[in-house]
Amino acid sequence: MKRLAGKTALITGAARGIGLAFAKAYVAEGARVAIADINIDRARESAAAIGDAAIAVSMDVTDQASIDAAVAETAERLGQIDILINNAALFTAAPLVEITRADYQRVFDINVAGTLFTMQAVARHMIERGIRGRIINMASQAGRRGESLVAVYCATKAAVISLTQSAGLNLIAHGINVNAIAPGVVDGEHWDGVDAFFAKYEGKAPGQKKKEVGEAVPYGRMGRAEDLTGMAIFLASDEAEYIVAQTYNVDGGQWMS
Ligand SMILES: NC(=O)c1ccc[n+]([C@@H]2O[C@H](COP(=O)([O-])OP(=O)(O)OC[C@H]3O[C@@H](n4cnc5c(N)ncnc54)[C@H](O)[C@@H]3O)[C@@H](O)[C@H]2O)c1
Repeated sequence: MKRLAGKTALITGAARGIGLAFAKAYVAEGARVAIADINIDRARESAAAIGDAAIAVSMDVTDQASIDAAVAETAERLGQIDILINNAALFTAAPLVEITRADYQRVFDINVAGTLFTMQAVARHMIERGIRGRIINMASQAGRRGESLVAVYCATKAAVISLTQSAGLNLIAHGINVNAIAPGVVDGEHWDGVDAFFAKYEGKAPGQKKKEVGEAVPYGRMGRAEDLTGMAIFLASDEAEYIVAQTYNVDGGQWMS
């Protein structure tokens, strides 16, 4: 029996990377998924590669009208939304004295406001229809502690952990479970960008930071997007019914909490 048979999921930022791996894994478990992304061309390519069980939806999580439209479109095309994964996010890095308000605002708008107001829109949809849904937020080990060059991104992910706790406590009264996943370092296009920041600020050769962080993981290598799919399926499955407001580390042993 497939664990998500008959379920529907809206996954933000799913055109590539971890979100796309979630979409593929959910479809393999019997779900239909909306690949919602600001990059609609890439979302369409990714949905087409998965097949009929995936649709592409244009969504900018910083824009309330876009959030509302994406939720309405997904509900209409898939019937309803049983599962939301708040996955869209941006990384940024800079020494403290170089952080700009514009960059702070841009990253908080996506990572924090985007997560909060997408949760709100989907929770309203679930409550209106009496759906005992699941919401999974993407936190990070970066939300567990600060990092010298990563003040803004770390603060956004700490906020995601906190929002998961408050939303989890509030929405369980409606039968909606909210939990989060905190990955460690996951290889992919996202980390190519992270590596470039460290090349700039720490004078490292391209690829050097990636190599170092991979070697520092107790498991012995960087994560792969597929390393996270088991937790994303579990949290959306019936087996996770009693799990509320938690953040799970899936990071090869990097953080213990
Ligand atoms: N890769 C890692 O090492 C790592 C580690 C910890 C946590 N995470 C978290 O996991 C999640 C996925 O990471 P990833 O590595 O796949 O990232 P990624 O950069 O590869 O993918 C992010 C996706 O979000 C989309 N996006 C950006 N802005 C958007 C917006 N305003 N509205 C809608 N979509 C938007 C992008 O187009 C892209 O498809 C993120 O929340 C990230 O913070 C990643």
